[in-house]
Parts: sequence; C-alpha cells; structure tokens
Amino acid sequence: MMKKILQIKSPEEMIALGQTIGKKLFPGAIITLNGDLGAGKTTFTKGIGQALNIKAVINSPTFTIMKVYQGDLTLFHIDAYRLDGVGSDFDLEEYFYQDGICVIEWAEIITDILPEERLDITISITGESTRQVIIETNNQEYQKLEGIL
Ligand SMILES: Nc1ncnc2c1ncn2[C@@H]1O[C@H](COP(=O)(O)OP(=O)(O)OP(=O)(O)O)[C@@H](O)[C@H]1O
Ligand SMILES: [Mg+2]
Repeated sequence: MMKKILQIKSPEEMIALGQTIGKKLFPGAIITLNGDLGAGKTTFTKGIGQALNIKAVINSPTFTIMKVYQGDLTLFHIDAYRLDGVGSDFDLEEYFYQDGICVIEWAEIITDILPEERLDITISITGESTRQVIIETNNQEYQKLEGIL
C-alpha cells in the first residue's frame, strides 16, 4: 500500500511529475487519473508522453474516447468522460492487457472494468495554478515509485 500526497505549483511541475512517473513505468502499466475538468489530467499525461519519447502532441481525447501514441512503449490515452451513463460495453478491456501504457482520464466512470493492479492518481484544484496530487497503489509493482516521488 502506497499513498503519496504532493503539492504541485505550476503546469510545468505537473508535466515534470508525469515525466518522473513515466520513466518508471513498465509494459502493461495502468494509470488512472481522476479530478475535475481542468484539474490537469491531460497536462500530466503530456509528461508521460515525454518520458516515452512520444513526438506527437498529446491533447485531450475527449471526443475520441481513445488515442494511441507510439513511443518507446505504446501509449493508450483513454478519456472515459463521454462514457458516463452510456454503460461500459465500450470495448476498452483489451487495451488493459497489452504491452503498452494505459492512461485513463475520468477512470472513476469505468471503475468496474478496470484491473485491480494499477496506479491511481487524483488531482484536486487548490488554486489558479496549484494542484494537490494523491498517488495511490495497492500493487507492489508500482511501489518502487515511492522512493522517487
Ligand atoms: N499546477 C497545474 N497543473 C496542471 N494544470 C494546471 C496547473 N495550473 C494551471 N493549470 C492549467 O489547468 C488546465 C489543465 O487542463 P487539462 O486539460 O490538463 O485538464 P484535464 O484534467 O485533462 O481536464 P478535462 O477533464 O477537461 O480533460 C490547463 O489549462 C493548465 O494550464
Ligand atoms: Mg483532459
């Protein structure tokens, strides 16, 4: 069990946090991102993209449910926002069990289909440019992050 609470002071710092975590990820890793509109979920994901050497610009996949980016590992960037109330018969499960990295914005909407082994990140808006980030996991594969956060 790991639970870290961080205070982030700028978008740049949020990207840097994504990079730090992104560098420690492994094939099959799953990261959930929860937090209000504009909390910084996509901003964090940009940092993951940088860590994976993805050259394309990562932006919000809100209108597409999922975007796939190729870097050192494949990034599946999912946004579950529009699945709210639709039911979760959308075929996302297959992506959770591939050798890529899955980053899921608004993951709380599809909790029932998510694997247990994952890194859960909750972002709260605490000010115009400040955010509280809670990073939690029950899985020891992710706990090596503890020393670097
Ligand atoms: N410390 C911070 N960390 C992250 N973003 C910040 C921070 N301070 C200000 N911002 C701003 O907040 C916005 C975050 O937008 P972003 O698209 O990352 O949010 P999101 O959580 O993905 O939203 P959505 O739910 O709409 O997808 C950006 O405009 C960013 O510049
Ligand atoms: Mg977003």
